[in-house]
Amino acid sequence: MEIDWKNLPFGYIKTDYNVRTYYRNGKWGSLELSSSEHVDIHIAATALHYGQQAFEGLKAFMGKDGKIRLFRWEENAKRMQNSARGILMAEVPTELFKKAIYKVVRMNKRFVPPYGSGASLYIRPLLIGSGAQVGVKPADEYLFLVFVTPVGPYFKEGFKPVNMLLTKEFDRAAPQGTGKYKVGGNYAASLTSMKKAHDEGYANVLYLDSKEKKYIDECGPANFFGIKDNTYITPKSDSILPSITNMSLITLAEDMGLKTERRKVEEEELSTFEEVGACGTAAVITPIKTIVDDATGKAFNYGDEPGVVSTKLYNKLLAIQTGDEPDKYGWIDIVE
Ligand code: PLP
Ligand code: COI
Repeated sequence: MEIDWKNLPFGYIKTDYNVRTYYRNGKWGSLELSSSEHVDIHIAATALHYGQQAFEGLKAFMGKDGKIRLFRWEENAKRMQNSARGILMAEVPTELFKKAIYKVVRMNKRFVPPYGSGASLYIRPLLIGSGAQVGVKPADEYLFLVFVTPVGPYFKEGFKPVNMLLTKEFDRAAPQGTGKYKVGGNYAASLTSMKKAHDEGYANVLYLDSKEKKYIDECGPANFFGIKDNTYITPKSDSILPSITNMSLITLAEDMGLKTERRKVEEEELSTFEEVGACGTAAVITPIKTIVDDATGKAFNYGDEPGVVSTKLYNKLLAIQTGDEPDKYGWIDIVE
């Protein structure tokens, strides 16, 4: 099959291989290479019944020099360990995580989109409770697998401002719940609100904190940021996923001479931002054109074109990821 690299959606395309390993009797087994897209799973596995699972998302980029670059994979390894601790799963050691992602990328080199296509190879590590339990208890067996798939932009608009629905009707995560972990339950909890947003013509949902319904929280499958007075501002909350992209943008913004703040952001403050956007591995930077409050109908507008600061950050981040600019932060590892 010929892949149209320039028009890839953010979706699944079958590649040649995935890698897998099981945690049994208190230790991880060897890493297996598989060409099957399926797993054989116990009917009472905790992942199926009680949502004991976590995943990650990171990307590999083809450089002009023909080298494949991974972006900050160690942060994904750490975050997956944190998710595992959060819902009592066996942790995948960093070395095993590394071995798995390097192997799956190497074995699927022909699926790394070419330099300049705007696409990348999305890497999806997945950790699931595979052991049987009927009572609500953690499993004693786990499966860690990694597959890859070439992807284009998550929002079909690419680097074009989208509309977001600020919802007071739905919550994504509880203040002291699992919002800060990358576990499937959070995504299940977001489906209804996301469908409502899509049905009404919005790209995604902007959530408020679930307790007071006052502060900006997560932005669909991404973090939220706003720019004003030469400052990059992003919400501080215990129920959002600590985004590696956001963390990187904070560093880049500081280097560009912006001030940065991670603090609570009230809904009313939305009217004061010059630019706003969503950021994440899949979303990269997705500028936001309009935010509409589903309770009041109030709209916050930011213009039809990406803002100057968002554009600079976007270009800088991509240039580092593809190797067009030197990796002065040590964020890149080459897959030989
Ligand atoms: N928030 C949620 C809910 C996500 O699913 C993601 C994607 O991973 C992010 C934020 C962004 O995180 P990162 O930049 O590490 O991809
Ligand atoms: C990511 O940005 O890697 C995500 O996980 C987003 C999503 C497709 C869930």
